[in-house]
Amino acid sequence: MCGIYGYIGNTTINNFVDKLSLLEYRGYDSCGIAYNYNNHIILIRTKGNTNNLKRIINNNTIQIGIGHTRWATHGKISPINAHPHTSRNNRFYCVHNGVIENYQELKDKYNIQTISESDSAIIPVILDFLINKYSIIDSLKILIKEFVGTYAIAIMDRYNPETLYFIKNKSPLLISKSDNNISISSDQISFNDGEKIIVLNDLDYGSISKKEIIINNYLSDNERVTFIKNESQLCKRNEAYYMLDEIYFEKKLPSIISEKYKRIHLDEYKMTITTSKELVFIGSGSSYYAASILAYEYEKKLNKRCFSLIASEVKNFNISNNSMFITLSQSGETMDLCDAIDYLKSKNQRIISICNIVHSTIGFKSDCVYPLSVGREISVASTKAFMAMLYVGRGLLDNSYFNNSIYISHSIKNALLLEPKIIEISKRISSSNFIFYVGSGIDYLYSLEASLKLREISYLHSLSIQTGELKHGSLALVDFNTYCIGILSSLDSKARLESSLSEVSSRGGKTIIISNVYNKADLFYEGDSLGLIVIIQLIAFHTARLLNRTIDQPRNLAKSVTVK
Ligand code: F6R
Repeated sequence: MCGIYGYIGNTTINNFVDKLSLLEYRGYDSCGIAYNYNNHIILIRTKGNTNNLKRIINNNTIQIGIGHTRWATHGKISPINAHPHTSRNNRFYCVHNGVIENYQELKDKYNIQTISESDSAIIPVILDFLINKYSIIDSLKILIKEFVGTYAIAIMDRYNPETLYFIKNKSPLLISKSDNNISISSDQISFNDGEKIIVLNDLDYGSISKKEIIINNYLSDNERVTFIKNESQLCKRNEAYYMLDEIYFEKKLPSIISEKYKRIHLDEYKMTITTSKELVFIGSGSSYYAASILAYEYEKKLNKRCFSLIASEVKNFNISNNSMFITLSQSGETMDLCDAIDYLKSKNQRIISICNIVHSTIGFKSDCVYPLSVGREISVASTKAFMAMLYVGRGLLDNSYFNNSIYISHSIKNALLLEPKIIEISKRISSSNFIFYVGSGIDYLYSLEASLKLREISYLHSLSIQTGELKHGSLALVDFNTYCIGILSSLDSKARLESSLSEVSSRGGKTIIISNVYNKADLFYEGDSLGLIVIIQLIAFHTARLLNRTIDQPRNLAKSVTVK
């Protein structure tokens, strides 16, 4: 994970840190910057996110700097393990996203002692060693030969204060240039709209300066993708939390997506899903649950085998030749999914992606990308992107679904109107020691997402289980402090849900029903089942808020999971 950012131009340190803070979704347990000021390199590192950095910086103007937001993989969260790293003679300063898997071997080979436990700390030390014999560019090439693992690395050299250097493998790295600035970043989010962006290939190495961009490749010289940055707006932060804004944005999502899809040709998708023998939906986390829900709905409608796979498990399944693979991702950068796509491509499979960030690693790797078009999601817990995956997936399956936007939007609004009642329920469950979500059929799939969302941001223990399965073991967890929340989108499952919940209440547990079809449910609204998603998201949000959690940046997590 981690975000790296490098800049050459003319800016204030505050503005530089503001750009860096846009990468915080990749990790926010610690951060740091190094910049050249009057021919001295100033290094500042701290625990926590960039707000902590802002408290200790001044607002001088700088011409060159690198910065990093960290999600710890090697070494505890501390200023010493935060980036940039430097060597003893303080010539090179490096920021790194990824993992140098053979760092222990390299430590032995180059006889390196570092105070930092981070794998990244060896990078400037090896550079110091190589620079005695080679040019910087040749040294970068040797680093590529030496490193096993994933990396996007930006390097600042005290003796070349107008140039930044880089190497890249498997972790995203992009360069953007305008008349006055040149920057390098793990994500286009830190570039300005209208700037031309170069997407670096794996094993690229080189340098950037105001004068020139030099890009070499260790193996080949395949062309690099370029595009002009033109991103839709972020959710505006009207509330104290991005997550709440992003949930409220969902009522606008049906019309935004339907409008967009009026201009997209859908015949190829239709032909692919009709002619393939089976459809395999792939994702991680919430995107895997969206994949599972879509697989369920596609199988019902198309009457052919459709199933979902967790991205990191794809290699454990036999690949059948007549399958079509549809991947889902909000960020477009999830390493597990990138690996799954590489694996499937190595078996000559075609990949369709449904993705929020089209200009992303997953977007570039796929044969065809269908956008979510809901703007970037900032809060770590996925809400509007999850909902959009379901909306787009349903619309791609049956294009007439896109004509339902008013009805779907109305359903979402009806669900949002339940917020006062949801707050009351959140008050009750926030003191619970265990919360079950149960459901049958597609409701079980909704409940998986409900449970993940709740534990992710509230840190309460929560499990999801099929309604009928509770009595086969998990009922042992129920006591007077347990809540069991049933999801019901079809009256066919009502009797089974009620009997399961009564088994819970007979043992002292508390029960709640959420439904769009059963008007005696504790939380009932009229309309499409997508409103259920709003309710489970609001339950998670309000429970976490009552428990004073850092909702947009929950502990131990990051928005974009770019490690294995
Ligand atoms: C949960 C959540 C994660 C992501 C998962 C995949 O709220 O956000 O589980 O869904 O990390 O991320 P993307 O969709 O970016 O591939």
